[in-house]
Amino acid sequence: MAVPEDWMGAPPRQPVDLHTDRPHAARVYDVLLGGKTNYPADREAAEQTLAALPNAGAIARQNRAFMQRAARHLVSEAGIRQFLDIGTGIPTSPNLHEIVQATAPQARVVYADNDPIVLAHSRALHTSHPHGRTAYIQADLCRPGEILRNPALREVSDNFEAKGSHVNARSKGEVLRFFHGLDLVDPGLTVVHRWRPDTVEVGAAGWSDADIPLYAGLGRTS
Ligand SMILES: C[S@@+](CC[C@H](N)C(=O)[O-])C[C@H]1O[C@@H](n2cnc3c(N)ncnc32)[C@H](O)[C@@H]1O
Repeated sequence: MAVPEDWMGAPPRQPVDLHTDRPHAARVYDVLLGGKTNYPADREAAEQTLAALPNAGAIARQNRAFMQRAARHLVSEAGIRQFLDIGTGIPTSPNLHEIVQATAPQARVVYADNDPIVLAHSRALHTSHPHGRTAYIQADLCRPGEILRNPALREVSDNFEAKGSHVNARSKGEVLRFFHGLDLVDPGLTVVHRWRPDTVEVGAAGWSDADIPLYAGLGRTS
């Protein structure tokens, strides 16, 4: 059987039980984003989440929108061409590679997640621009050495030029520590919907910081 280009160097695929009869956190997030990679158990869990936290959909969409704005900044203003997306989640268009390859078709994107179910969904949904490359690896954010040694990563990316991420549900001071040693791009660390907003979701202008309780920032090495 031919090995797709985006899996060169990766270990053979193992069958993954998607456990569609029970809710899965990443698929519930997909429901909140309006995605299509979810099942009745996920949709039921999303309804329960929204009943308890009516802003949950807006929080998910603003989280996703920050990723898109940060990616556009990196590819258009900072000239980055190689990306590593750790904790990528289930693909929801536009995905990172769609955003950056729209500006730079040769851009290379490695998606990493520690959840095999997420990776199984990702393989089915991601297709690179023919001039660029994508790869998907199962990897844990807490084991950066293993990520950097991953053969699929080394196949696609010869060097990392930038790293983007966000940390949720912590104090601003704790999140700020994540950027130690990096220069924060303007406007620095801020609630996610105030980081270079370019589109305002209906009602977003009236949201308080507490309504969308996520911090976002973009750090660069000097
Ligand atoms: C909210 S979802 C995806 C968010 C997505 N990056 C976005 O901006 O829309 C978070 C993802 O992080 C993954 N994740 C959680 N802990 C992780 C870890 N230690 N290493 C890698 N991925 C992790 C989960 O499996 C999940 O798919």
